[in-house]
Amino acid sequence: MSTAATTETKPAAPVIEKIKVKVDGREIEVPRLTADWSGKLTPTTMIQACEQAKTDVPHYCWHPQLPVAGNCRMCLVEFGAPAMGPDRKPVINPDGTAKIAKSPRPAIACATPISPGMDRASA
Ligand code: FES
Repeated sequence: MSTAATTETKPAAPVIEKIKVKVDGREIEVPRLTADWSGKLTPTTMIQACEQAKTDVPHYCWHPQLPVAGNCRMCLVEFGAPAMGPDRKPVINPDGTAKIAKSPRPAIACATPISPGMDRASA
């Protein structure tokens, strides 16, 4: 009888890049991808980044264990992203920080994916 040990090799977990975003003036690092309700990796949304920053965003139709509906609009947040110059490089403030171009309209935090340098201002 052969008693060879079977060594199952699990597939390596994917390395998920972390990106820096600002929530209420605090810079935090969040993973670019987060597992959704079905376990599939999807882009991290603003509401998930705010949860990691321990900042409450009022919400009604969003639940982490359900698909995103995005119907109620209760989670509207103001946000901005780094401003780009004509040379497609970020515009830098005199103090060395990136200039943030505020979005003209609020967005629903439960369905808006984060991007590097994004700044979520207020609910
Ligand atoms: S929680 Fe309803 S639209 Fe975001």
